[in-house]
Amino acid sequence: MDINGSVALVTGANRGIGRAFARELLNRGAAKVYAGVRDPATVTDADLIPLRLDVTDEESVAAAAAVAGDVSIVINNAGIGGSGTQLLEGAFDGARQAMDVNYFGTWAVSRAFAPVLARNGGGALVNMLSVASWVGQPQFAGYAASKAAQWSLTDALRKGLRDQGTLVVGVHAGFVDTDLSAWTDAPKISAATVAELTMDAVIRGELEVLADEGTRLAKAALSDPPSLPSGL
Ligand SMILES: NC(=O)c1ccc[n+]([C@@H]2O[C@H](COP(=O)([O-])OP(=O)(O)OC[C@H]3O[C@@H](n4cnc5c(N)ncnc54)[C@H](OP(=O)(O)O)[C@@H]3O)[C@@H](O)[C@H]2O)c1
Repeated sequence: MDINGSVALVTGANRGIGRAFARELLNRGAAKVYAGVRDPATVTDADLIPLRLDVTDEESVAAAAAVAGDVSIVINNAGIGGSGTQLLEGAFDGARQAMDVNYFGTWAVSRAFAPVLARNGGGALVNMLSVASWVGQPQFAGYAASKAAQWSLTDALRKGLRDQGTLVVGVHAGFVDTDLSAWTDAPKISAATVAELTMDAVIRGELEVLADEGTRLAKAALSDPPSLPSGL
């Protein structure tokens, strides 16, 4: 679809990948970009339109959909790492919060904005997923499960919104250089790269973005028998 002249909304656009999405939408000629954020005061880019939106609060989501009734591109980017839940002991709080934000938050925003997208010609719904949709790890089992659930939801939305002409794009990446991945020194790609690849996919009508080599290899290995990396 054409981004030039479009109106878009990005959740979590005050920082990280969400901010890069918003900036790239403007680079590609979007006429208006709403930054759907918990605290509008955190949006420092003057050319974004701050819109109060907590993806875990259905009233807040409904209110945002009522205000941003002119969007034809919605990017479900808001997400958390759900840290603090260990695999074999302790409370489930972090994992539950990750499920609440990453999975149910994406679902709530998609539901609320599906009729808006339909009214505006179908448009595009982009879900920011992860290589963790396909690879569980003991260190972030809760996060990975939330991303696997969000991936499944993305698949269902793609089919459920087909008749209204909405392009549903799933974006998978390994580590991206943002606050969320600050805990690791592993190689990272930039948020700008993720945003550029995603806008290319939206323009071309592609259903999936595999943003780095590790993610491409992880997806290609899905049909392999389960195995353990050496050293485990
Ligand atoms: N960084 C990576 O390595 C990586 C890799 C693959 C996928 N991802 C995914 O990319 C997305 C963005 O992550 P990031 O790396 O940019 O993280 P980040 O820098 O920590 O930013 C997270 C964003 O989500 C927002 N957010 C959190 N909870 C929210 C809620 N309930 N309602 C609305 N907004 C909320 C945050 O807002 P506040 O400022 O208010 O907290 C912030 O804008 C996430 O879905 C993440 O899972 C990240």
